[in-house]
Amino acid sequence: MIHTQIQIQIDGKNINARKGDNLVDVALDNGIYIPTLCYVRGQPCLGTCRVCAVQVGTATAAACTVPVAHGMVVTVNEPELADQRKALVESLFAEGTHNCPSCEKSGRCDLQAVGYEVGMMVSRFEYRFTPRQKDYGSEHILLERDRCIFCQRCVEFVRDAGSGQKIFSISGRGTTSRIEINVELANKMSAAEVTRAVDLCPVGTIIEKRVGFNEPIGKRKFDIRSIRERALAGDPQ
Ligand code: SF4
Ligand code: FES
Repeated sequence: MIHTQIQIQIDGKNINARKGDNLVDVALDNGIYIPTLCYVRGQPCLGTCRVCAVQVGTATAAACTVPVAHGMVVTVNEPELADQRKALVESLFAEGTHNCPSCEKSGRCDLQAVGYEVGMMVSRFEYRFTPRQKDYGSEHILLERDRCIFCQRCVEFVRDAGSGQKIFSISGRGTTSRIEINVELANKMSAAEVTRAVDLCPVGTIIEKRVGFNEPIGKRKFDIRSIRERALAGDPQ
């Protein structure tokens, strides 16, 4: 395949890129970090969280949904945009129940790490603490539903190895939405597949049963390096 080389500008910096590449990746490869939660590099974009809000030309757009095109002018680091991203993160904290100090995912949770990244101290929105029943039904996985941010990573990227069927789904609408698990398929997941699903979840909703604090707090990935540093270094998510 022939790739067309183009030029774009991000925060005043002239950048050479391949036409159609993802804006988040292009920015990162040129030392510019855009916060993300639902986007997984190398996977189709989901566009569910909008935390990657940037300005493209005169419009605000979710960067992970933007394929770069010649002449594009992008703004990332500007106070109003930064506040929009912060507000989106705050709304996610306000919608669910996020008790970071007691959560098994603390220190390796993308939402917590992005919260630090955007400088969030407290949510400007009223905390709802939406109650959602836990699901203990599967052999290896516990679902802490009230932490789910509905990013759909698990829905789209976790499949049964044999049939390709989805293992996770979202039921309900609005405040009654909740994440569901197909117990029969989940019980067939290998240990490595369970670990991948746990790692893929950007919060502490998908938790492996019988594993608690196997990695001490203080030594976890975001305790050692911030999500920005990890992303810029190309570390795995
Ligand atoms: S369980 Fe985790 S990965 Fe799945 S939709 Fe909720 S937050 Fe996203
Ligand atoms: S990271 Fe872009 S919409 Fe979620």
